[in-house]
Amino acid sequence: MEQQTEKKKVVFSAIQPSGTITLGNYLGAIKNWAAMQEEFSCIYALADLHTITVRQEAAAFRKNIIDAYASILACGIDTEKSLFFIQSHVNTHAQLAWVLDCYTQFGELSRMTQFKDKSAKHADNVNAGLFTYPTLMVADILLYQADMVPVGADQKQHVELTRNIAERFNGLYGNVFKVPEPYIPKNGARVMSLQDPTKKMSKSDENVNACVNLMDSPEVIMKKFKRAVTDSEAKVRYAEGKEGINNLMAIYSAVTGLSFEQIEHDFDGKGYGDFKTAVGEAVIEELRPIREKYEQYIADKAYMQDCYKKAGEIAQKISQRTLDKAMKKVGFVLK
Ligand code: TYM
Repeated sequence: MEQQTEKKKVVFSAIQPSGTITLGNYLGAIKNWAAMQEEFSCIYALADLHTITVRQEAAAFRKNIIDAYASILACGIDTEKSLFFIQSHVNTHAQLAWVLDCYTQFGELSRMTQFKDKSAKHADNVNAGLFTYPTLMVADILLYQADMVPVGADQKQHVELTRNIAERFNGLYGNVFKVPEPYIPKNGARVMSLQDPTKKMSKSDENVNACVNLMDSPEVIMKKFKRAVTDSEAKVRYAEGKEGINNLMAIYSAVTGLSFEQIEHDFDGKGYGDFKTAVGEAVIEELRPIREKYEQYIADKAYMQDCYKKAGEIAQKISQRTLDKAMKKVGFVLK
């Protein structure tokens, strides 16, 4: 009984292994993934099935998956405390996604901003997977009966879709799925491009100076911050029309924990040059241990294989329970 009341809340999130991991991914999501491990029962995945909605070159894709696994471990995901698996190793995800596809409306998926953005960007390959991608994400989350989903602001719409589909399914069949909440950081929820601060920071940006990668060297990080686009006011303050400075303040605040008022106070009378250097230094120090740990993990592929194999087996068992429950409610005959 006591155990019942003490049951930890479940956290689920995932990231696509589609190349380097960015400062946006880190501040928007992964920093929270690591922080939530003490208090909650955390389940994280590399969403490799999602990644093939954009054409991948097989050898590079394989390397990106292993690299991303090492990078996330290096960010402090502890496999003793949390489950961290590779989505394609657990076959329940694609299975539940199919079932949920049949409970999701064409109109709902058409309204997803990520679908609209990505189909504009990859106009030569607007495949069905790109369209139904959000339902696979819904399945990821619902399979683990997650209470909270730590993500950046760009994924909020998908978590809202998850809530709608869970409520719809529960409305038809009783309490099958937990209805989850998005968990979005106060600062860092939407890290913007350093070159065009009206656009989200993204690894696919053509301008290399727009995006800081977790594995960038300290020199490269500093260079990118020094080149960051700002404005002509030369005053560090958070205000409309100062998107470049607002973005740098949000990054600085997310890394140091300082409030905007404190930052404005500390940089009162100082120029943008000093501020950019301070932001660059703070980010370099935040990422330094991650880079060092990444080198250790990537050199030990056998250790990583052991981690993702074990985690995948456990994830399979947990998620099978939910899949069976959902299939039974729909009327399938279980084995
Ligand atoms: P992905 O791989 O694009 O991004 C991983 C996480 O990083 C966040 N993020 C950002 N946060 C702040 N500023 C940015 N510039 C920025 N760019 C990315 C994203 O919000 C995300 O939290 N569909 C998901 C992966 C996924 C998933 C899931 C997430 C698959 N299944 C289930 C949660 C639950 C995606 O493509 O994220």
